[in-house]
Amino acid sequence: MDALQQLVFFMCICFKATQTESSWTVDVPSSVEGLLGSCVVIPCSYNYPDIAAHTFTGIWRIDDQVIYHPTESNTMEKYRGRTKLLGDLSKKNCSLMIENLQQSDGGPFFFRIELEGPNKFSYSNNKVSISMIGEPNPTDFFVQEEVKEGQTVSAFCSVSHSCPTNPPDFHWSHSGEQHFQTQNLQNGQWKATSTLTFHSDRTDNNKPLRCRVTYHGGKQREPSKTIKVKYAPVNVKVEYQSDVNEGETAHLKCSSDANPVSSYEWHSESGALLNKGQTYTMSNVSRNSEAVYCTAVNEEGRVKSSTVQLNVLYAPDIETYSKCSSYNGIVKCDCIVQSRPPSTVHFVLGDRVLPSSKVEKNGSVTTGTLQTDFGSFKFVHCLANNTLGNSNLTLFLPVNDNMQNIFIASGAGVIFLIILIATGVGVVRKCRGRSGETPTSDLGTMKAERPVELPRYAPTKRKEDRKDMSCSDIYANDHLYGNTDCDESIYNNV
Ligand SMILES: *[C@@H]1O[C@H](CO)[C@@H](O)[C@H](O)[C@H]1NC(C)=O
Ligand SMILES: *[C@@H]1O[C@H](CO)[C@@H](O)[C@H](O)[C@H]1NC(C)=O
Ligand SMILES: *[C@@H]1O[C@H](CO)[C@@H](O)[C@H](O)[C@H]1NC(C)=O
Ligand SMILES: *[C@@H]1O[C@H](CO)[C@@H](O)[C@H](O)[C@H]1NC(C)=O
Ligand SMILES: *[C@@H]1O[C@H](CO)[C@@H](O)[C@H](O)[C@H]1NC(C)=O
Repeated sequence: MDALQQLVFFMCICFKATQTESSWTVDVPSSVEGLLGSCVVIPCSYNYPDIAAHTFTGIWRIDDQVIYHPTESNTMEKYRGRTKLLGDLSKKNCSLMIENLQQSDGGPFFFRIELEGPNKFSYSNNKVSISMIGEPNPTDFFVQEEVKEGQTVSAFCSVSHSCPTNPPDFHWSHSGEQHFQTQNLQNGQWKATSTLTFHSDRTDNNKPLRCRVTYHGGKQREPSKTIKVKYAPVNVKVEYQSDVNEGETAHLKCSSDANPVSSYEWHSESGALLNKGQTYTMSNVSRNSEAVYCTAVNEEGRVKSSTVQLNVLYAPDIETYSKCSSYNGIVKCDCIVQSRPPSTVHFVLGDRVLPSSKVEKNGSVTTGTLQTDFGSFKFVHCLANNTLGNSNLTLFLPVNDNMQNIFIASGAGVIFLIILIATGVGVVRKCRGRSGETPTSDLGTMKAERPVELPRYAPTKRKEDRKDMSCSDIYANDHLYGNTDCDESIYNNV
């Protein structure tokens, strides 16, 4: 062939090719995957020679049988009601949908177009078969599996399918913002993706996130992934037995909810580090033991518990500044007691046990007040008790000015007393072995002294002390009030 011939030949081919472009052609995939029971849409576009067409009749066939015809009665029974031409034939779109796919719907199928007059064509050289799958293809599921609390989590769930008219339905096990996206793949396959966005919460930790996909026709898939949410400790609390006796040991345990698990530190309220570890043992607790708190620590944060103040129980301690006072001629005695639990406060005046006329409680302080006719008594005993023990203290009654004067004036009496002692009259013997307390000498100062034994409660072996005390009282009283009754009168019948 010479060059000219070659040129003509190629021009011919080119012309033919351009001519075939606008000739009887169809574009269909040779095979489309379809899920049994679901639907399939066979994508199809066709072409026909350059003729002015106004009426279009699109038909789909398998061999010489019609699986789709616009006049339904022309469709073979097996496909009646299940096939639908989705494409707009005037726009050269011949896409076909087959519903409720059955195993025997494999094809192969081809398209036929009938335009006006003799312009009809069966594209039987381009057949489409449907490869049936019994179960949906695996689902793609993606989510960050480890997040921090509050972080935004995006989860993606996507599946391929062949039914764009009724794409699969997605249902998430977690609330959040959802987005649906669909993408056309090749050969009649579509990809449907659901995106879920939410803010992670600690309650999501270790919980599976599920994406339930329901395909048209009813088949389901439910992939899931467990999310780990890291969060700073919460519910940091100290477990302990609140009531503990002074001097005993208290065991404290800290707990918290955290991911990853917490480590613990113990501090005193003033900030000193006491211990590291989940438990803390406080030995020899005292009423002054400082409040403590624990701190739960993990990589996400440090969180303190509330402060724990043990309720340390201890027997009463009567404050030495407890006293009797006189105001406007009214005498009252305040007995101030430190104890936990609060104490019962009684007074012993002579042979009488008197309840407090007034009791005030404020925390560990109980104040018992006695206001009564104190008569000629020089002192009153305050007695405090609680479940852990008891305590007592002698409170001296105030000496009024009048009496003081008499006392000074009767200096002779004192001298007489000294003489009596000096001359060794039986009284001296009686007064021997005194414990050194001399209520007489403190009478005017109202100072409190301890210990003092009280008649009702005192053991007998210390009776001698009492006699002594009463003796000295008697001598004092002798001059002031002429009370000559010795110890017996005060203590005998108690
Ligand atoms: C043909 O019609 C189908 C169904 O309506 C549609 O999904 C597809 O996009 C159309 N194809 C083209 C090439 O326009
Ligand atoms: C317990 O504590 C008190 C003071 O709070 C102290 O006097 C005492 O010795 C302590 N006892 C022991 C066994 O540590
Ligand atoms: C209780 O005692 C505290 C101090 O220990 C004091 O601040 C408070 O005023 C007292 N309350 C009453 C009602 O006396
Ligand atoms: C304190 O002593 C009184 C009298 O002895 C008694 O009735 C009371 O139950 C005691 N209280 C406690 C808390 O022990
Ligand atoms: C008073 O207290 C002393 C110790 O302080 C004790 O020995 C005595 O028994 C107490 N008396 C009474 C009546 O409780």
